Formats: sequence, structure tokens, C-alpha cells
Amino acid sequence: MAKPFVAGNWKMNTSISEAIKLARALRPALSGIDGVTRVICPPFISLAGVSAEFVGSDIKVGAQNMHSEPKGAFTGEIAGAMLKDVCDYVILGHSERRQLLGEQDDFINAKVRAALEIGLTPILCVGETLDQREAGNAGTVVEGQLQGGLRDVSAEDIGRSVVAYEPVWAIGTGRAATPEMAQEMMGLIRYEVARLSHIEIAGNVPLLYGGSVNAENAAELAEQRDLDGALVGGASLKADDFAAIAKAFATRA
Ligand code: 13P
Repeated sequence: MAKPFVAGNWKMNTSISEAIKLARALRPALSGIDGVTRVICPPFISLAGVSAEFVGSDIKVGAQNMHSEPKGAFTGEIAGAMLKDVCDYVILGHSERRQLLGEQDDFINAKVRAALEIGLTPILCVGETLDQREAGNAGTVVEGQLQGGLRDVSAEDIGRSVVAYEPVWAIGTGRAATPEMAQEMMGLIRYEVARLSHIEIAGNVPLLYGGSVNAENAAELAEQRDLDGALVGGASLKADDFAAIAKAFATRA
């Protein structure tokens, strides 16, 4: 079974000083919660500062995006090698980037491979829109995003990755998927990850649910068999709420 895993995606929130303040509140709130990997993903500009706040703790840091190329003329972009100095994880293929910035599976796949090559752990995000769900296509869409995002990634590298299922209709809406709905998709994702790698490898890949996770609904989500953790947006900006979510997954059977 995959080790429980919670990640906080701060998105485009917090100034540098706010980020440091939040990191200082998170450090004591998250320490002592054993048995769950805890990852904080602040904006690029605060990565180094937040990382420094967590030195000597087992709280990890991640970026929210990176470019697939190692360096060069890509104004405004950040390469994996730059991130490697300050963090261990990188969120890739988030639906906000897919939807608002037009990122497609090919580009996301290139980023996933670049991240793994440099030694960063990708948190690959997949998830359907409301229209796709209502048309009965949620499973096909998610399978396609997994196949696209993990194309030409070795079984061993898939085993070093994290997958987050974030239905677009549940993000920031206060309307989380029901635990049953989330489990149904997680089962499908586990199966697809196994098909792309190996059944034993897939069993150890943390599968996260994201979309309106909060301190109240985390416990029942954590009860679901294939739901190893959460990728948390809004509630990760409050130290106590994020710690409560981490605790809910730490005690998962
Ligand atoms: P919310 O938890 O705010 O719904 O955001 C989820 C998300 O997109 C995390 O990446």
C-alpha cells in the first residue's frame, strides 16, 4: 500500500512574507504527524524561503509547474534543474494550466519525463470537466490523460511518481466528489497505472484526490481503499486545517 501523502497547493496566493508566515505556522502544526508524507507547494518566488523554513524537519516542498526544457530562451519559465536546488516535488498538468493556459498532454508528458530525469517527483494531475462527466466520459478522459502524461515513462519511473485526480467541477467549488465517486475513479486510475507499469508498482504509487478537500470531509475520503492522500488548494492556506487533513490521512487503515 502506498504511504499516505498530503500536498498543499497554494496556487497564486501569498506574498513572500505571507508565505514565510504560513510556513512558520505549518512547521509546528505538521510536525509529529507521522506516517504521512507532507508536501507544501508555494509560488515559485517563495520556494527558497519556504524551503529554508522547513530545514531540519521532514516537511517537503514542491513547485507548481516547470518547463520541459533544461535551459535556454524560454522567457519567464523555470527549469527542473533550478527547482532541484530548492524542492523535491513538482505539480504537473494541473487543470488550471490545462484549461486557462492551454497545456496539452504532449507538453505535460515532456515535463513529467524532464522532472523524473532530474530527480524531481512529479505529481501528475488528471481530471474531467463537468461536461465530460455529464456526457459519461469521465473515465475515458482520465485514462487518456494518464496515457498521455505517462507516455514513454518507464515502469520504474512511474513507481517514483504521484498521481492526483482532481475533477475540475470540484476544484474551488466547495463541492467535493463523494467518497464513493472518488474511490470509483481511483480504482480506475490504479488499474491504468498498473497497466502502464506493473501491478506491484501501481500499488505503491500514491493516488491523491483533490477538489474541495477540507478538515471536515478528509476523514471519510481517507477511508476509501485507493485514495492514499489529498492535493489541497484553499484549505492548505490555513495551517490548522491542513494539519487536520494530514492527520486524517495519517490514521488511515
Ligand atoms: P481546492 O482544494 O481549493 O478545491 O483546490 C484543489 C486543487 O486544485 C489543488 O491542486
